[in-house]
Amino acid sequence: MLAELLARHEETARARLDGHSYDYIAGGGAEEISVREAAAAWRRIRLRPRVLRDVTEVDTSCEVAGIRVSAPVLVAPTAFHAIAHPDGEVETARGVAAAGGLMIVATRSNADLDAVVAALGSPWLFQVYVMRDRDITASLVERAARLGARALVLTGDAPVLSRRRHGHILPPLTEDQYLGNLRPLLKPGTRISWDTAQDPSITFETIGWLRELSGLPVYVKGVLRGDDAAACLDAGAAGVVVSNHGGRQLDRAVAAAVALPGVVAAVGGRGEVLVDGGIRSGIDILIALAMGARAVLVGRPVSWALASDGAAGVQQLLDALRDDLREAMALAGARAIADVDRSLVASG
Ligand SMILES: Cc1cc2nc3c(=O)[nH]c(=O)nc-3n(C[C@H](O)[C@H](O)[C@H](O)COP(=O)(O)O)c2cc1C
Repeated sequence: MLAELLARHEETARARLDGHSYDYIAGGGAEEISVREAAAAWRRIRLRPRVLRDVTEVDTSCEVAGIRVSAPVLVAPTAFHAIAHPDGEVETARGVAAAGGLMIVATRSNADLDAVVAALGSPWLFQVYVMRDRDITASLVERAARLGARALVLTGDAPVLSRRRHGHILPPLTEDQYLGNLRPLLKPGTRISWDTAQDPSITFETIGWLRELSGLPVYVKGVLRGDDAAACLDAGAAGVVVSNHGGRQLDRAVAAAVALPGVVAAVGGRGEVLVDGGIRSGIDILIALAMGARAVLVGRPVSWALASDGAAGVQQLLDALRDDLREAMALAGARAIADVDRSLVASG
């Protein structure tokens, strides 16, 4: 059972990790109200399944960002995988590759991008934090484009980082570990904690800057409002990720499940809408797709799988999510992703 697998991964991870690292992954902003609400918001929505649809064969494959995927489930960008596994993002990538999954590699990766890309051996996306030093940001984005990233995912909801459990912002890492992927891009005189911190001055114009710099489609992650989604597309974005950053930024930001319909309506088919936050089952994925998302992202479950069982855990998790979606689709009378439409949702 998927729920048991998720619980086992998290329990094992909790036993293995030091308390600070565990809290960094599990926690969120302020009182963690948004963290607690995320999964519950998906569970409040009800379905209206179809019957007599011959679901002998159910196909979960589809296209996201122009990439054919075996299921619409992406690995969310999460920083600092070295806290969960000594090989960091390289180990995650091994698991993703084994499952035939699609990973959004984070700016704040501990492992060097070269090694992560080699371990993936398949298409990938790159998450961008625009740092105060735009030259370092530009070098990083150009490097990602050179190494074959198929799209950029600009995180828009973290102009500053929120303070988390025990007043921490970052997990326990040395400066060298913190830099990770950024190390080859530093210049003499770089003031690490200032220059590589997120630039709070980013605007919708940043979308065009990234597009020109990389020649890649840009998705904006962290969008919770229809007007913002429309503005992102007007500024040249290929799509948006409806997300409250797993409840890790502004606490009491609305749950993704609640924000999704408004964003889908505002986008009106002009771009792709992805969604994340509290996705823990095939039924959650089915509901997200029925509400108009093209795919979902999964964050913490991947971190727990990585800390618990390394690449094998990540593979097992992604396979289990795909199988769970297949079962949910069969029970809802959907043979293919194209059959998962708004009429399946009974309320919400
Ligand atoms: C440990 C951790 C680190 C994260 N780091 C980033 C990051 O560097 N950039 C980003 O855009 N989102 C980051 N996120 C947010 C995830 O991409 C995603 O939005 C969130 O985890 C989804 O919620 P879920 O964990 O309930 O699946 C992070 C999340 C976690 C748990």
